Formats: sequence, structure tokens, C-alpha cells
Amino acid sequence: MNGLHILGTGRALPANIVTNDDLALRVETSDEWIVSRTGIRERRFATHETLTQLAVEAARAALERAGVSPQELGLCLTATVSPDCATPSQACLIHQALHLPEDCPAFDLSAGCTGFLYAMETSAALLPRMARPYALLVGGELLSRITDMDDRSTCIIFGDGVGAAVVKADPDAPWFARLGARGCREVLWAPGPGQAEHPYLHMNGQEVFKFALETVPKLARELLDQAGLDKDQVDWYVPHQANHRIVESVAKRLKVPLDRFYENIERYGNTSAGTIPIALDEMAERGLLKPGQWIMCLGFGAGLTWGGALFQWQAREER
Ligand SMILES: CC(C)(COP(=O)(O)OP(=O)(O)OC[C@H]1O[C@@H](n2cnc3c(N)ncnc32)[C@H](O)[C@@H]1OP(=O)(O)O)[C@@H](O)C(=O)NCCC(=O)NCCS
Repeated sequence: MNGLHILGTGRALPANIVTNDDLALRVETSDEWIVSRTGIRERRFATHETLTQLAVEAARAALERAGVSPQELGLCLTATVSPDCATPSQACLIHQALHLPEDCPAFDLSAGCTGFLYAMETSAALLPRMARPYALLVGGELLSRITDMDDRSTCIIFGDGVGAAVVKADPDAPWFARLGARGCREVLWAPGPGQAEHPYLHMNGQEVFKFALETVPKLARELLDQAGLDKDQVDWYVPHQANHRIVESVAKRLKVPLDRFYENIERYGNTSAGTIPIALDEMAERGLLKPGQWIMCLGFGAGLTWGGALFQWQAREER
């Protein structure tokens, strides 16, 4: 089945907290508007941190919790659209900082906010062919780099943050995953380096909203069918944190109580490829994830892309 176990997670957030009131000093908006439309109260915008610094901090925490040393890694993947360099890849910068072995390939995946799901499924497919069965997966962004702080339709939504996971390939691990894409530049896009006078994220918020509601409940049902599980057998739904109203509508459509959906968007905004690994790490730290529980991660975003994974939680292995 080419399954995965998540052995350990980590996260790193920039220190600088920016509240809705802070944003209202710059653009015409209000705390009340932002909270009611998105659920976001504050986010982090990096002042001095690089993506590499945050990624390495998150990766070290994940490796430590997993009980896996950097030398044991067989694959290093990073999901991001806001790397420190166009080339080498962000994954290679992490490879360098952690002194990973030369037979541990490293590369980036660009799948917008679905990036971490793409990284999980790619590692499930690749790991059996690698030198060792452990992968470091990093998902995260410094979206403040590509957000126009004078555009109230985007600056209120996005934030900076990184999550990481150390996973192990296990052919016996129950692992159900689906990835999809519908090539579409217009709804959510950012130009490449040096390609535009306005080098920022562009978003049609209403179209993203519609796309999410069309895609995510269907994705969840497909995963349940694939696994032969009922929606009530899933202990935790871990959705991409794009907007509280999207999560609420997905829960309603699936007829699953909202408290089964983990949410932290209130504190971080949308950190794109970072939201799911950051959420998993918070959940693990809070003791919410117990061995054997069924977890469903659901992502969607620029591309347009979507992806989901349904698996059983199993933290650090005894070795
Ligand atoms: C962005 C989003 C919050 C906007 O909410 P909305 O209800 O669709 O709002 P609209 O774009 O229709 O704008 C409604 C009005 O609010 C205004 N507005 C937009 N941003 C605002 C802000 N930050 N503060 C106050 N008013 C704002 C608009 O200018 C518009 O004013 P008008 O009616 O005078 O023209 C919402 O579309 C959304 O959450 N979409 C999904 C975004 C997302 O998840 N992105 C991540 C992708 S992975």
C-alpha cells in the first residue's frame, strides 16, 4: 500500500505578531470585519527570520520527537511558494543546514496551500526506492514576502509559519490519499521573480471560496469510500486553515460536528503549505492525537490543487 507513519512533528513561527487592529492602521478594514469574514485575529509576519531558519527549527524539533537523526534521512522535501532562493531549492538549503547525507535527495514542491499533502503522497511513493525509509517533510511560507500590505483583500488573510514532519515508509500502514489539480491561473496566483511590476499574490476570494466548497467535501467522501470508513469513525479532521467560514461550511456539508475539525487560523492566518503540519504539531503537543486514531488531512489552494490523506496516528516508534 506504500503507507506512511508520522513519527514526529515540529513547527516554527516568526516572533512578530500582527493583530487585525495593526492592519487597520494601514488599510481600511476592522477587527470585526476580518474576524467575521475569516476567523483570523492575528498572524505572524517575519521581520528578520528567513524561511531556512524557521524550517531548520521546525525540522530539528520533528527529528527530535521522532527519535530520528539527520543521517538516517532518505528524502528531504519542502512544500513552499516563498523560498529563500529561486535556486537552489529550499529543500537543498535545509539539506545544507542539517548536513544531510548525499544519498538523501532534496527538492521543492509547488502546489500552493495543498503543498504538504503533495509532499506526503510523493514521499509515500518515493521512499521505498530511497536509501533509508525516513523522510523529512517541511511545509511553510514567508507569505509576507509576496503579499501587498496595501491590498486589504489579501493582507488580512495570509501569514508566515513553517511546520515539519518526519515520516517513515511502512507498506503495512493504512494510508489513503488523493491528489488533484485543475490548471487555472486566474483565481490565485503570484508572478515569478522579476516578472511583474506588482510582484504580489493576486486572489479572487469568492472564487476560492466556491472552489473549496465544491472540492473539499467531495474529497473527504472519496477518502472515506477508499478506506471503507464512516465519517464518524474519523477522530480528527485537519483542514487547511484558509478561512473559518470554509471549515464551518465543509463540516456542515459532511454533517460532522465542527469540534472534530482542528482550527488555529485565529492565531496564524493562512500560512499556506504550513497550516497542516503546524496544526498536526500543535495537536500532538496538546496530547490530542492518540495512537490508532484516524486522522483526515484536507488541503486546497493555488493551482488550483487539492489533496487529502487519511491515516492512523502513530507517533515515535520504539527502536
Ligand atoms: C477574501 C474574503 C474574506 C472576502 O470576503 P467576501 O465576503 O467574499 O467579500 P467580497 O470580496 O465580496 O467583498 C465585500 C466587500 O468588502 C470589502 N472588503 C474586502 N476586503 C476587506 C477588508 N479587509 N476589510 C473591509 N472590507 C473589505 C470589498 O471591497 C467589498 O466592498 P464593496 O461591497 O463596497 O465592493 C472571502 O472571499 C474569502 O475568505 N475567500 C476565500 C479566501 C481564501 O480562503 N484564500 C486562501 C486560499 S487557499
